[in-house]
Amino acid sequence: MNESLVTLRNVTKVYTDKKRRQVKAVDGISLDIYRGETLGLVGESGCGKSTTGNLLVHLLTATSGSILFEGQDITHMSERRFGAFRSSIQMVFQDPYASINPQKKIGWLLEEPLVIHHREMGKEERQHMVKRMLQVVGLDESYKDRYPGQLSGGQRQRVSIALALILNPSFVVADEPVSALDVSVQAQILNLMKRLQKEYGLTYLFISHDLNVVSYMSDRIGVMYLGSIVEIGSQEEITWHARHPYTQALFSASAREDGEKRERIVLKGDVPSPSNPPSGCPFHTRCPYCTDKCRQEKPQLQEISKGWMAACHYCGEQKQGETAALPYDGEGIAI
Ligand SMILES: Nc1ncnc2c1ncn2[C@@H]1O[C@H](COP(=O)(O)OP(=O)(O)O)[C@@H](O)[C@H]1O
Ligand code: SF4
Ligand SMILES: [Mg+2]
Repeated sequence: MNESLVTLRNVTKVYTDKKRRQVKAVDGISLDIYRGETLGLVGESGCGKSTTGNLLVHLLTATSGSILFEGQDITHMSERRFGAFRSSIQMVFQDPYASINPQKKIGWLLEEPLVIHHREMGKEERQHMVKRMLQVVGLDESYKDRYPGQLSGGQRQRVSIALALILNPSFVVADEPVSALDVSVQAQILNLMKRLQKEYGLTYLFISHDLNVVSYMSDRIGVMYLGSIVEIGSQEEITWHARHPYTQALFSASAREDGEKRERIVLKGDVPSPSNPPSGCPFHTRCPYCTDKCRQEKPQLQEISKGWMAACHYCGEQKQGETAALPYDGEGIAI
């Protein structure tokens, strides 16, 4: 049976922007992240992926709802109490340049968390751990005497991964970890993350706007739109058999398994602002199948089959293997 390591229950995050408008960046998300899996989180820029990731690692506090880690409610824990979870919950950021202090040598950057969280450790033991960690991420010992500025983007991301893993976490949030890297380096970092997941039994929340990257990395995928999860299911279900019109459009551009291109669905218009979200279904302003009901009622996630859910009034009407049986107004799809 799948054991939930992290649980989000109706989690909402509202920011106040510079114009004092309320921005609902995360709008009532509920989901489980199972021990040992990679849950991918995908969606266009601004849909709330990073906010969700930051809530899980306690960089932000939820406006409402709750976040459980190993069954314990961490939502409003003080920093002091959350300290006990800090080693278990770690993050790898998109931009290795921004997340590493350029003034410090790599060896010290890796040693510092051990000084803070493992006071019982002597210097020799700490330095031994640093050496080992460098090896684990594919860098030789000499890197401990280098500064971040002397490393390539890929090497720096290896250091960020070492930094995330040195405290032996069980859960890692990776927010666009390869988006700043050259394509040729991306695969190396993704494969390193996969190998480390197996070796250390890690659970990942893997955030990316890149569909191919998410499909490659994930066991399950959650698709976000305007702060909501609109569809969640196995990698196979979401990548190849999506039911929600947004997921279908998103994945329509990628190549089929047999190499053939799929029918391309081009969405009209821009994503609405989360400070002024549409009524009813958040996707209705761009959905080619929108009806009056869609403009008025917000669809809830409903089960398509075990573990596969979509938030569309009409998703339940499709049978497995059928293409969309949705009312279609003939606009908005370009093939
Ligand atoms: N500190 C902030 N203040 C106000 N609005 C914010 C802040 N951070 C993010 N937002 C807004 O919240 C929404 C979600 O942002 P984000 O979580 O970064 O999305 P993603 O990672 O999917 O691109 C966006 O509309 C963004 O502009
Ligand atoms: S509920 Fe309506 S607008 Fe929303 S995705 Fe489904 S068909 Fe489109
Ligand atoms: Mg982001």
